[in-house]
Amino acid sequence: MTAPKKLFIKTYGCQMNVYDSERMAEAMGGQGYVETSDAADADMILLNTCHIREKAAEKVYSELGRLKKLKADKPDLKIGVAGCVAQAEGEEIMRRQPAVDLVVGPQSYHRLPAMEERLREGKTALDTDFPEEDKFEHLKARPKAKRAPAAFLTVQEGCDKFCAFCVVPYTRGAEVSRPATRVLDEARDLVERGVREITLLGQNVNAYHGQGDKGDVTLAGLIRELAKVDGLERIRYTTSHPNDMDDDLIAAHGEVPELMPYLHLPVQSGSDHILKRMNRSHTAESYLRLIERIRAARPDIVMSGDFIVGFPEETDADFEATMELVREVKYGYAYSFKYSTRPGTPAAERPLVDPQVADDRLQRLQALITQHQQEVQQSMIGREVSVLVERAGREAGQMLGKSEYLHAVHIEASDAQVGEIAKVRIVDSKTNSLGARHC
Ligand code: 5AD
Ligand code: SF4
Repeated sequence: MTAPKKLFIKTYGCQMNVYDSERMAEAMGGQGYVETSDAADADMILLNTCHIREKAAEKVYSELGRLKKLKADKPDLKIGVAGCVAQAEGEEIMRRQPAVDLVVGPQSYHRLPAMEERLREGKTALDTDFPEEDKFEHLKARPKAKRAPAAFLTVQEGCDKFCAFCVVPYTRGAEVSRPATRVLDEARDLVERGVREITLLGQNVNAYHGQGDKGDVTLAGLIRELAKVDGLERIRYTTSHPNDMDDDLIAAHGEVPELMPYLHLPVQSGSDHILKRMNRSHTAESYLRLIERIRAARPDIVMSGDFIVGFPEETDADFEATMELVREVKYGYAYSFKYSTRPGTPAAERPLVDPQVADDRLQRLQALITQHQQEVQQSMIGREVSVLVERAGREAGQMLGKSEYLHAVHIEASDAQVGEIAKVRIVDSKTNSLGARHC
C-alpha cells in the first residue's frame, strides 16, 4: 500500500472559506490525501484565498513567494490557489508566480479531484467557471468522522446587491440557494457526528430561498425546520443584509429557542449620503428602526456589524453620523475596515479620502467599538449563561466554549465534557473572553 499524500490548506478570509476548505480536504481524501497541519511536510499546499480587500489579496502573493522557495527544495510539491483571488485573477496568478500548479475558483472546487489527476500527468490545471451543476451535489459524501461540536454549513452563495465597494458579486457570482432538503440532510448528518451548533452561511444568507418538500423555503422556514432536528441545540446564521430581514425572520428570533441571540447585520456607514453612494438601498434611520424591531422580538440579542471608513467622498460629518449610529446601537462586536479600492467595482473610479484622515477615523471608530464591546462583556458579569463546551483550556480543570451571545467563555474548575451545554455564571471579563463558574 502506498503511504497517503499530505495536504496542507491555509485558509484566509471569511467563514465560508473555512467551510470550503473542509469540503476541499474531503474531496482530496478520495485522491489519497490526508490533511497535515505542517506545510513543510506537505505534498500539496492549497491557499484558500480572500479578495475582499487589497491587503488580503496581496498576502497571497507574499505567501506564494515563500512557497516557491519551499518548492525549490522539494520539486514534487504541488501548489494550488483556491477561493476568491483564484476567481478574480485566474491565470494571472500563474503568470505572476509560475510555481503555482493549480488555480480553482470557489464555484468549481468539486472538480479538484480531476484537476489533481492533471497534475499527476505533469500538467497545470485552471478552473474558474461558474458551472451549471451544483458543486455540493458533485462532492463526495462527507466521511462519517466525529466532528467538533460547532460547525458551519453553507446554504447560500453569491450576492445580487452590488454594493459599490464590494467584489463578492463578481467573485462568488449571483445569489444561489441550496435546496432546503439537502441542507436538512447535511445538518442531520453533522448532528449524528457530534455537532450541536450549526452556523448557516451565505454571503447574503437572509435572502435564502431554497426548494423544500412542500415548495419554497425562506431562511426563517429553514431555521424552524432545523430547530426540529433532534440533538441540534443551537442555530446561528451569517451574513445578513438589512433589506432581507423579513417579518418572519424577526419573529423567529423571539419564537425559536434554538436560534441564538446574536445577529451580525452590517450597515457599513451611518450617513445616508454615503449609504446612497455605496448603493446600499437603505438609510441609517431604516436600519435603526429594524434593530428596534429585532430587539422587541428578542430583547437580549447582541448585535454585531461591519463598517467601512474613508469611503470616497466621506466627509467629517458623514463620519460623525457613523459614530452616532454606533453609539445608538451599541454593538457587542463590530468590525471596521479602511476602504480599499477593488478594481472592477463602481467605487474604484472615485477619488480617495486622504489616507491619514481615513486612518484617524478608523482609530476613533475602533476605540468606540472596543469601549462598547467591553461594556457589553462587563454587563454579562453575574449573569447565568449557557456555554457549548468546545475544548479543554490550557490550565487544569479549565474548559472553553461559546455562550449563546457568541462570547468566548472559559469555565474554571469544570468537569464539563466537550459537546455539553453547561449552565454557568459569568464572574469576570477579560479583553476578548469571559470567565465563568458552574452554577
Ligand atoms: N474595502 C473595505 N472593506 C470592505 N468590505 C467589503 N469590501 C470592502 C472594501 N472594498 C468589508 C465590508 C463587508 C466586510 C466583509 O468587508 O464591511 O461587510
Ligand atoms: Fe458585498 Fe455584502 Fe454588499 Fe453583497 S451585500 S455586495 S456581499 S457588502
